Amino acid sequence: MNIIEAVQTRKSIRDFKPDPIPKSILEKILKLAIRAPSASNAQPWEFIVIGGEVLEKVRQANVEKLNSGTPPSPEYEAFAWPLASVYRQRQVEIAKQLFTLMDIPRKDSAKRAQWMERGFRYFNAPAVIIITMDRMLPEARPSLDIGAVMQTICLVALEFELGTCIENQGVLYPDVLRRFAGIPDSKRIITAIAIGYPDWDFPANRVESLRESIAHITTWCGFE
Ligand SMILES: Cc1cc2nc3c(=O)[nH]c(=O)nc-3n(C[C@H](O)[C@H](O)[C@H](O)COP(=O)(O)O)c2cc1C
Repeated sequence: MNIIEAVQTRKSIRDFKPDPIPKSILEKILKLAIRAPSASNAQPWEFIVIGGEVLEKVRQANVEKLNSGTPPSPEYEAFAWPLASVYRQRQVEIAKQLFTLMDIPRKDSAKRAQWMERGFRYFNAPAVIIITMDRMLPEARPSLDIGAVMQTICLVALEFELGTCIENQGVLYPDVLRRFAGIPDSKRIITAIAIGYPDWDFPANRVESLRESIAHITTWCGFE
């Protein structure tokens, strides 16, 4: 797969086949992905790869917390997109697309809750990659570097016929991850990437997210 194909093919996958991913493949993906650039080559990322029974326990505990109404406690700044903004409009647009594909009416709170749960179950992925950053680092700056490695993981995964979904939802209960995966307090939990073999029969996996036109978001200086 060439680079353009990979960039065009990558999309967020929200249901996976149960087939486990061999550890050797996950290792290869991470080894390639850490070729991502980072400021001063500081490489401020660390990974916790969770699968098997441990992942089942994490899924269950996440869902228990969600359903008991436990407020999320993310360790990486999470905020709502401003209401009267184009960002919020885009967020609503992708949600509408997904809900239409999944046949979830706007007012069906039970179906919406089930959909929400999926994220906390890592969309049934057989593995999840948690990305952490040492707490000695300030939160804001190294997130640029984390973004670079995050996208590189998602692109490299395609070469192994794996799909991914980067998800904030997966790290909203960091205490669960710490308990079952032994993540020390000295590491800030930044994000999760659900990874597995896509189930292409799952309606939401057919979503085609939209993008703004380049004309709207680009200023050209010194060009005709
Ligand atoms: C930092 C980040 C956090 C995300 N968190 C979630 C999430 O919690 N749940 C989810 O379903 N998708 C999540 N996504 C996926 C986005 O919704 C998705 O990237 C966007 O809609 C564009 O679609 P595409 O990835 O299919 O191109 C996240 C993506 C990023 C980059």
